[in-house]
Amino acid sequence: MRHRPDSDQPHRLRSRRWFDDPSNPGMTALYLERYMNYGITREELQSGKPIVGIAQTGSDLAPCNRHHLELAGRVRDGIRDAGGIPLEFPVHPIQETGKRPTAALDRNLAYLGLVEILHGYPIDGVVLTTGCDKTTPACLMAAATVNIPAIVLSGGPMLDGWWHGKLAGSGTVIWHARKRLAAGEIDYEEFMNMVASSAPSAGHCNTMGTALSMNSLAEALGMSLPGCAAIPAPYRERGQMAYATGKRIVGMIHENLRPSDIMTQGAFENAVVAAAALGGSSNCPIHMIAIARHMGVEHTLDDWQRLGPDVPLLVDCQPAGRFLGEAFHRAGGVPAVMKELLDAGKLDGSVRTVTGRTLAEDLANVAEPDREVIRRYAEPLKEAAGYVVMSGNLFDSAVMKISVIDSAFRKRFLSDPEHPDVFEGRAVVFEGPEDYHERIEDPELGVDAQSVLVIRNSGPVGYPGGAEVVNMQPPAALIKEGIDTLPTIGDGRQSGTSASPSILNVSPEAAVGGNLALLKTGDKIRIDLQARKVDVMISADELAARRAAWKAPLLQHKTPWEEIYRSMVGQHATGACLEHATLYLNVIETRGESRHNH
Ligand code: FES
Ligand code: MG
Repeated sequence: MRHRPDSDQPHRLRSRRWFDDPSNPGMTALYLERYMNYGITREELQSGKPIVGIAQTGSDLAPCNRHHLELAGRVRDGIRDAGGIPLEFPVHPIQETGKRPTAALDRNLAYLGLVEILHGYPIDGVVLTTGCDKTTPACLMAAATVNIPAIVLSGGPMLDGWWHGKLAGSGTVIWHARKRLAAGEIDYEEFMNMVASSAPSAGHCNTMGTALSMNSLAEALGMSLPGCAAIPAPYRERGQMAYATGKRIVGMIHENLRPSDIMTQGAFENAVVAAAALGGSSNCPIHMIAIARHMGVEHTLDDWQRLGPDVPLLVDCQPAGRFLGEAFHRAGGVPAVMKELLDAGKLDGSVRTVTGRTLAEDLANVAEPDREVIRRYAEPLKEAAGYVVMSGNLFDSAVMKISVIDSAFRKRFLSDPEHPDVFEGRAVVFEGPEDYHERIEDPELGVDAQSVLVIRNSGPVGYPGGAEVVNMQPPAALIKEGIDTLPTIGDGRQSGTSASPSILNVSPEAAVGGNLALLKTGDKIRIDLQARKVDVMISADELAARRAAWKAPLLQHKTPWEEIYRSMVGQHATGACLEHATLYLNVIETRGESRHNH
C-alpha cells in the first residue's frame, strides 16, 4: 500500500469505520452482514482494500448515459485488478431532452442525492459516470462537496449522424430541420427522419453541445484520464478507458489524491480557455462556476470575461464548425487542444490531474493532431471566440458570443455608421416559451428584420430550472425572406447545440425583479459590443415608474422539489446553485462523518 504524501502512516480508509471498527463489534457486524447477502465475503470487506463507488447515471430513462450500465463492467474489472472492491449505485437520472420542465432543475437534485450517498455510505473513492449535459456538473459538484478521491468516466458521444450524405449533428439538426419545415421545404415524415438520423448509436450528443463541452472540460480540469472525453461511446477504446479509469481510482485512493488537489483555481482558469478553443456551450460558465463554488474556489463570470474572449476557436465541430465527435476524437480530442493551448502559453501546466502528474507532463507526448479538425493556435477557425459578459440597465450580467455576429447582421442593426459596434433594434417581448410559440407567427406583432426577440420568466426561479429557450427562431414569413436569425435576449439559457446570436443567462432574472421584467414590446434596445453594454433606451424615471407598477409573477409549483428549488436557488451568473449548499465545503474534513444509527 502506498502512503499519503503528507504522512509516513498508511492512510486508513474511511470504509473501515463501517466494516472494521474494533471498538464497536456490534455495529461492524451489522454493517457487514447485509453487504455480504449477495455474495461478497467478510474477508473481502475486512481486507482493508478500498471500497470504490461507481456512480451510475445510466438507465432506460437516461439514454445518453445508458451504455454506462455495460461500461461499468469494465470499470469493475479495473477496480478489481488494482485491488479494490467496486460497489455500483444509481444517481438520480437526468435526461436533457426528456425531463420536464427541464433537466437543469434536476442538476441540483442529483447533486444533493450524490452528496448524501458519498457522505453516508462506506465509499473511499468514486468513479463518476458522466455524459448527458447536466450529469457531468452534478457529479463534479458532489465530488467537490464531499472531497473524496473521484475520477470522471465520460460515456462518449454517439457515432456521427448522416442525412442524405451530409453530417447530421445532435440538436443542431433540429434547428435546421425546424427552419426547413417552417419554410415548407420538408414534410412531417422527412422532418422526423432527418432529426432521428443524428442519433445513430449509444452515446451522448455528438455535436460540441453541452454534453461534449462539459465532458471535455472535465478532462481539461484534470478530472478524467487524458483522452477520455471524446472517444465515441461504441468504440473499443471506450471500454478500455473504462478499465483504465477503474484501475486508476484505486491508485488515487491510496495516494489520497482528492478533487481539492485537482480542481484548483488554475485548473478552472485552464477550463475557461479550453471552453473558448473548443467552441463550448453557453451552459459551460454556469456549470463551471457551480462546480468551483462547491469546491470553495474563487471563480466567477469575471474570470470568463478576463480569460475567454480573446481565445481563438481551434476545434471545427458543430455548431460552430463542421465536424462531429468521431472526427474530433480521431483528430486528437481534448489532449491535442490542450497541447496547442499550452504551447501558446495560455494554460497553467503545473496543475495536477487524476494521473497524479502535472498537466504539462500529461501532455508531453501528445501527437500532432489532424489539422483539418483541430487548428493551430496561430491559424484558428475564428479569432476571439469566447463568451463576452454583457451588462447594462436591463441586467447585471449576461453572456454573448460576439463571434457569431456576421456582416449581414451588422448591416441590419447598425444605427450609426460612425459607430460600427453599436446596434439598435425594437424589442418584441415574450413571457415564456408558451407565449412565444402562441404569438410569434401573429402579423400584429410586427416582427421584422430589425426586431430583437426577448424572452423572460425563463430563469432558474421563473421557469423553474432555467429553460433552453433563448434561441428563438423568427416567424416563418421572415425565414422565407432569408432572415433566419434575429438577435435574442433572455433570462433563460440556450441549447449548447445552437449557434444563434443571443444574449442569454440574463441575471438577475425577471421573476425575481430584474429589470428585464420592466421591458415592453416596442422599446428600443441598444447593444454596444465595444462597451459590452445592453440598454433599453428609456429614461430612468420611466424605468422607476414601471418598477413601481411591477408585480412579481405568481409561481406555480408542480412538485415539492420545484418549490424547494425555487426557494433556495441562485442566479445563472453565480452557477444557479442551491445557495445554502455552497456553505458546505469539503464536508468530511470540515464537518466529519455522520453518526451511527443503532
Ligand atoms: Fe443527452 Fe444531448 S440530450 S447529451
Ligand atoms: Mg440542452
